[in-house]
Amino acid sequence: MPFGSKPSSLPKSRRDMLNTLYLHLRMVRLVAATAFALVLATGCMGEITNGANGDDVLTPEEIAAKNAFDQTVTPILGPTCGGCHTSMANIDFMAPMPDMRTHLLAWPGLVNLDTPTSSKLLTKGAHSGPAFTAEQSAGVLDWINLEKVAAGGPTTTVETQAFQPQPGVNTVDLTGIGLPGATITFRMQQLSVGIYLNEITVHASTDAIHVVHPLFVTWDAQNVASPDPVDRFADIDLTVAANEASSIGGGTAVFVDVAPTTKLSLHFLVAAKATGGSTTGGGGITGGGCKSVAAFTQFAQPVLAANCAGCHAGGNAGATSATDMSKINDLSATAQAAACGQILSRVVKATPADSGILVTVDPSKGLTHPFKFGGNQGSYAAYESQMLMWINQEIQ
Ligand code: HEC
Ligand code: HEC
Repeated sequence: MPFGSKPSSLPKSRRDMLNTLYLHLRMVRLVAATAFALVLATGCMGEITNGANGDDVLTPEEIAAKNAFDQTVTPILGPTCGGCHTSMANIDFMAPMPDMRTHLLAWPGLVNLDTPTSSKLLTKGAHSGPAFTAEQSAGVLDWINLEKVAAGGPTTTVETQAFQPQPGVNTVDLTGIGLPGATITFRMQQLSVGIYLNEITVHASTDAIHVVHPLFVTWDAQNVASPDPVDRFADIDLTVAANEASSIGGGTAVFVDVAPTTKLSLHFLVAAKATGGSTTGGGGITGGGCKSVAAFTQFAQPVLAANCAGCHAGGNAGATSATDMSKINDLSATAQAAACGQILSRVVKATPADSGILVTVDPSKGLTHPFKFGGNQGSYAAYESQMLMWINQEIQ
């Protein structure tokens, strides 16, 4: 069933929502104008003036960008790059003139707000100085994305209206956030202690689309909003070609301790039409990406081959398309790396116990799946402990 996603009016609890989102999850953008007006009206955002003269009021987006810079970027750049770039003539882009962030943003080409990933700061790589690690690049890119948002991107609203998900297939229309005809679909099942979403998929319409950092927000009966506490899709930066679809990360999300009647809304750091044509990076959906293929082969492969491969390695088309284990029985290194990547896309690294590869087959979880160890909790526990031996290696 389709849900509308027009920009929402301002519910009374929006203030709580803003506090939660901005103070704890710096990556989220709301409707700038309304959020800004509310901040002025209530003064509830804490520090909203900048230290320089106390008069300039920052927008919530600017606060988010500035916080990300102070908390993430300064600790990366300072020790790694500061030795040369604070004071060496002609390359002193980190000099506090008037402060490091302002100077970096003003330095030609260093930070590219139109296409953040092509910022020279990120693309420079190893030179007289070192390259960023993957983790450092991700932190710096998060910040640049926030600066882009603060500077005002092409979309103005990246928040869908709250809707009531139904058991079974759900469709969220993204027309209201500037992506005409695009949708996000997922299936919802009620758990004894919450709700389980799977097959979370973004579908482009006649335009290619670019979505960054989708965030599910749950709304309780009092309309109090809580962002996904593990922010599981924080790493997602996805471009979907026209008329194509892509899974969002592993495609599953579990929300515990929410009522079955909880409402959901979806927020995005960026949700825009894309200029490029190809589909990229579903956040680990396309194989590869395992750190510990050896541990996978040692611990996970035997239990998956014994219990799951009968259906998931091609024997059952529905099973294989839901979770592909077609490479599981091939013990060559390349095949195991691919098999590992396929299973990793069903792992929630932040909270392994919520992983689709576990909860789907746990007899105590109440999900519908054709195989649940015949209801034998002990057999499931043995499977789970083998899987966790591998998963724990992946998340180290
Ligand atoms: C040991 C000194 C040193 C360190 C440490 C260092 N750099 Fe550099 N960097 C240089 C020099 C010298 C140049 C100018 C020559 C060149 O472009 O390679 C430069 C140039 C650059 C430029 C191009 C600036 C422009 O105006 O075009 C960027 C971007 C850059 N560095 C980024 C970094 C980053 C990011 C780090 C930290 C991860 C870093 N550098 C660490 C010495 C250093
Ligand atoms: C008897 C056949 C069968 C066996 C055995 C089986 N599955 Fe499945 N599985 C399916 C089918 C069919 C689906 C497709 C979705 C559905 O109909 O529920 C599926 C879907 C899934 C999904 C995706 C569900 C989602 O949330 O999208 C996961 C994960 C999964 N299975 C894991 C496993 C694991 C792990 C094992 C072994 C411990 C296993 N399955 C054994 C038939 C099987």
